Amino acid sequence: LNAPFPNDPTAAVVPALLRARYGRQPGAEAAAAFAEDAVPAWNPVLDTLLGHRSVRAFRADPLPTTALAWLIAAAQSAPSSSNLQAWSVVAVHDRDRKARLAALAGGQAHVREAPLLLVWLVDLARLESSARRAGLAVDGLHYQDTFLMGAIDAALAAQNALTAAESIGLGSVYIGALRNQPEAVAAELGLPPRVHALFGQCIGWPDATRPSFVKPRLAQAAVLSHERYAPATADDIARYDAALQDFFGAQGQSHPAWTAQTADRLRDAAALKGRHRLVEALRGQGFELR
Ligand SMILES: Cc1cc2nc3c(=O)[nH]c(=O)nc-3n(C[C@H](O)[C@H](O)[C@H](O)COP(=O)(O)O)c2cc1C
Repeated sequence: LNAPFPNDPTAAVVPALLRARYGRQPGAEAAAAFAEDAVPAWNPVLDTLLGHRSVRAFRADPLPTTALAWLIAAAQSAPSSSNLQAWSVVAVHDRDRKARLAALAGGQAHVREAPLLLVWLVDLARLESSARRAGLAVDGLHYQDTFLMGAIDAALAAQNALTAAESIGLGSVYIGALRNQPEAVAAELGLPPRVHALFGQCIGWPDATRPSFVKPRLAQAAVLSHERYAPATADDIARYDAALQDFFGAQGQSHPAWTAQTADRLRDAAALKGRHRLVEALRGQGFELR
């Protein structure tokens, strides 16, 4: 299970991976039955998706020369709202620039350590300039939903790149903290008006001496309703708190329960570490957000 890509479609690996994803929820028998049924449908795509874990410890080895082109081809294969393709990405290899971006992202060591940092951008500038060259109006560019489309497109593209990376044994972690100081990140990357750095993504070979593990998620019942919305129950949440305690406990780490951790993350504006200024920063970057 520690291998980034187990790819072993056997009755031993698949249930283990599903158990890792859900821990002791939602009841051992149901999880086991689901796992057994899942074995015949198992394939390398599911293996990569369900085997995901964020990697924050990288070897110094460089990436294969063609890796970036594969990742971007995978990213561009994602669906795109009205085919607007309202995103771009900056590949940062330079050590000093990575160090400066790491400092802007709360000093996260893995941003420096990863051989490649991709910074995913909402890009409305390309649509604006192509329309302007053709003498066409694009007033719709200035509405919040258009920004949202760019953010959705960029996230789908980035996740495709992440899955492609994991499918060839690379590891990755997103860096949302790149939004802590958006003006400084924009200056560092030379972003023009109407281009915004949504998040970073570290890419590199996982360091097997500092492994990461499949982290349990909420039970399916807590996130999936049928026909009409049904909220998660107090039991769902209590079971997930316990599953995450098991997860961190097995690694010898003490960790606050999920309920406490998520509430702390969202406690107040200060807990957002600069991101409470997002709308102000976006307006400064030329997004009107009407
Ligand atoms: C948009 C986004 C931003 C994130 N930002 C950070 C970050 O700044 N630093 C970090 O170490 N992890 C970051 N993460 C990783 C999450 O902490 C991680 O995905 C979550 O804890 C679940 O763990 P897993 O990915 O190993 O399953 C981010 C994830 C997403 C989706």
